[in-house]
Amino acid sequence: MNAQLLIEVSALAASFLFIYGLKRMSSPVTARSGIVVAGYGMLVAVLASFLYTFGVAEAAKPHLTTNAIIAVVALLIGVGWAWRSGKTVEMTAMPQMVALYNGMGGGSAAAIAAMVLLAVPAEGASHGSLHYLVTVFGGLIGAVSLSGSLIAWAKLDGRINKTLRMTGIQAINGSIMLATIGIGLYIVFGAGGHAPAGVTVAFFALALIFGVMMTMPIGGADMPVVISLYNAFTGLAVGLEGYVLNNPALMIAGMVVGSAGTLLTLLMAKAMNRSVSNVIFSNFGAAGDEQQGEIKGSQKPAEAGDAAVNMRYASKVIIAPGYGLAVAQAQHKLYEFVKLLQDAGVEVKFAIHPVAGRMPGHMNVLLAEAGVPYDIIYDMEDINGEFKEADVAIVIGANDTVNPAARTNKSSPIYGMPILNVDHAKQVYVVKRGQGKGYSGVENELFFADNTNLVYGDAQKVMVSMIQAIKSLDGGGH
Ligand code: TAP
Repeated sequence: MNAQLLIEVSALAASFLFIYGLKRMSSPVTARSGIVVAGYGMLVAVLASFLYTFGVAEAAKPHLTTNAIIAVVALLIGVGWAWRSGKTVEMTAMPQMVALYNGMGGGSAAAIAAMVLLAVPAEGASHGSLHYLVTVFGGLIGAVSLSGSLIAWAKLDGRINKTLRMTGIQAINGSIMLATIGIGLYIVFGAGGHAPAGVTVAFFALALIFGVMMTMPIGGADMPVVISLYNAFTGLAVGLEGYVLNNPALMIAGMVVGSAGTLLTLLMAKAMNRSVSNVIFSNFGAAGDEQQGEIKGSQKPAEAGDAAVNMRYASKVIIAPGYGLAVAQAQHKLYEFVKLLQDAGVEVKFAIHPVAGRMPGHMNVLLAEAGVPYDIIYDMEDINGEFKEADVAIVIGANDTVNPAARTNKSSPIYGMPILNVDHAKQVYVVKRGQGKGYSGVENELFFADNTNLVYGDAQKVMVSMIQAIKSLDGGGH
């Protein structure tokens, strides 16, 4: 088989593995293997790229210098870094890591575009306008995604705590964008794809600045949505540069990432009852408390042991986990507790809010890690009607996703966001450490409700106390 044919067959195989892997990711049961399958696809695609160095006719090579040594060195650095960070990253720092990796993808697409635009074309090897238009467009989106993702990473990682707010920022950003597009069009139509190096560098510099300026005004709370949006950008940029390089694996991988990122962005925005433009152009949670008005009632503490015993004698308990469960890494203890309740004949279900935690599927991943069977885990819309039949709803480290103000208080920043109906249960226990607010920074009237008691403490410690309470009860005389 000659190298060219092998490249094409590999591209087909890699594309199949990407799509099949993504399909498997749609269910928690098969998601893990889906990631591995897609990883093999990436391995095939990367190895096939090296075939360009061997025996491929000059005309069929992408117009990049294929320097295998530099590519291998870059690959080793990338693999080493990703391996280490992937192994050591905390579950709660996952969104930052995704932002960083995503930025690298956008940067790679921009780098391909830069190479194409800066290369001196061989005699007779110039391309038409469409080719350069696609190159420039992909480069623009890739560069915006690179610098935007880096700012998102810095914000999520607490390295940038400021949200840039100033009058006229939209006009400034609009001008930068128009200037960047103007230079891009000049490169394509005025300079036939190969403008002087200074012009091309200015184009990429402006695109990078635009990415920074676009992300700086967006509040920290909206970063996961923004990262997902940049994920879609990166996919699009990679797909476009795949077209430029005539590499079908890159094109298909880019399209898959682009469409998955777009869908995810829309779903997240929908789950927060906001439009994507509202996320980008306004500041979620910035209004804070002052708009909320007085909350009536008082917070009533309860002992972990008493709450546990109450659940032990209930017939139906629904658990609403949130970000605090991830912080406390309490999922294993929680499942141990659930098994004790089930052994005592209690029906236990988990209710998952689509944006509980800090990334899509955060709670599903945590519960899967602890081995909780999928058939007791329910999505919000499937379980919300059942809370009224529950004797106890226990909220563990969740806040915004169970805040009834989202239903009733028009002036609340989270008004309109669908929430878990935990307040409809006969008795509600909320496990949290103290008076900490949720991600949106607003107070929660659920904590003051008549049927709610607060069990203060780190979620893992509380679960240990609850387990002990049930064990000493059942061990001691039943
Ligand atoms: P949050 O509203 O963030 O509330 C977390 C609660 O956990 C806090 O009230 C905190 O109170 C408590 N907590 C923290 N550490 C704890 C620990 N070690 N033990 C016990 N409790 C602990 O959580 P949520 O309900 O999951 O809501 C998620 C928020 O993130 C929403 O506003 C959502 O819009 C936003 N968001 C999520 C996503 C995705 S995709 N998941 C994307 C964008 C935005 P104490 O400090 O008092 O303990």
